[in-house]
Amino acid sequence: MSIVALLPGDGIGTEILDGPVAYLRRLARDGAPVELTGPWAYGTSGWAATGSTLPDDTVAACRDADVVLSGAVGTHPGITSAECPNPEAALIRLRHLFDLRISVRTVRVPGEADVIIVRNITGGAYAGPDQRVESDGTGDAEDRIVLNPRRVQEVFDIGVEHARAHPGRRVMSVDKASVYATSRLWRRISHATAGATGLAIDDVNVDRAAYELVKYDQLPAVVITEGLFGDILSDIVCARAGSPALCGSATISPDRRFGHGVTALFEPAHGSSPHRTGSRRSNPTGAWLALVDLLAWCPDLAALDLHTRVRGAIDRVLDKGAPTYDLAGPGTPVLDLDQFNERILEELP
Ligand code: IPM
Ligand code: MN
Repeated sequence: MSIVALLPGDGIGTEILDGPVAYLRRLARDGAPVELTGPWAYGTSGWAATGSTLPDDTVAACRDADVVLSGAVGTHPGITSAECPNPEAALIRLRHLFDLRISVRTVRVPGEADVIIVRNITGGAYAGPDQRVESDGTGDAEDRIVLNPRRVQEVFDIGVEHARAHPGRRVMSVDKASVYATSRLWRRISHATAGATGLAIDDVNVDRAAYELVKYDQLPAVVITEGLFGDILSDIVCARAGSPALCGSATISPDRRFGHGVTALFEPAHGSSPHRTGSRRSNPTGAWLALVDLLAWCPDLAALDLHTRVRGAIDRVLDKGAPTYDLAGPGTPVLDLDQFNERILEELP
């Protein structure tokens, strides 16, 4: 049995999960080995409800679950960022608490093959608060970037797994070896991985990588990179795809220790879009892509091959046209969130 803790979070987070949650509830009702708990509060809306962006009940629910399905964390309508300044800290704390140290993002680029971005997400540039010195505006501020070779190797190992599923397509390792010692370590491990696996891995500086991801006709299958570089490059690939809503995001613990609290968190990569909240016009593709990753991650669900079915449904609906507002050209009929979800659910027997 896979236990999914629902953490819809802020803004459009709740409505964006409606379709995937409806499908999970249907699976549970039909006897699939999945159970949903929540919704549990977090982010700005969690702070408004409980005084904390990551309430104890929510952490306890994550300890009792196998995976998290999250909507978005960020600004929430009616609450200013002066009142709740850093809701993202809740997401960062969850990653650290459950050692969800690798991020795997899948961007569906219309008319092209997917791009997968794999990065470290708790070490390096995303290290915890103990690696930072705040400034009051007069003294120095400091962020330390430390990379451990074993931790870098496991990012490559996950990247290689994905690369092997897409033979013949380009694999990029992105760094800034001309400047950073951590990048020179990164490149050393890139070469060792290429040697050990026989895979061709292109080492590309991050500035050049940004250029190629915008300009080149052929996109790489996999980009393996440090946390901050991957954060920026994944948004660039989303821009290339046409919308931030075309990206599903998985934050995983490669140890896969099921039964000891959540092993992964799945979410669409976009933000909480407070101005659009309640309009039910947002594009839920990222949430559906996140569900695909969740269904492939949990062993008892993966055995049912539901992820292939859901991914097929997403592709058929998007390929048939009638886009959501973010992808529609002028004069094109537009689907709202509920109509989009209906079409996906109709494709799923
Ligand atoms: C993302 C976000 C997060 C990140 C923030 C909210 C910490 O930008 O998911 O891309 O940088 O990982
Ligand atoms: Mn980001």
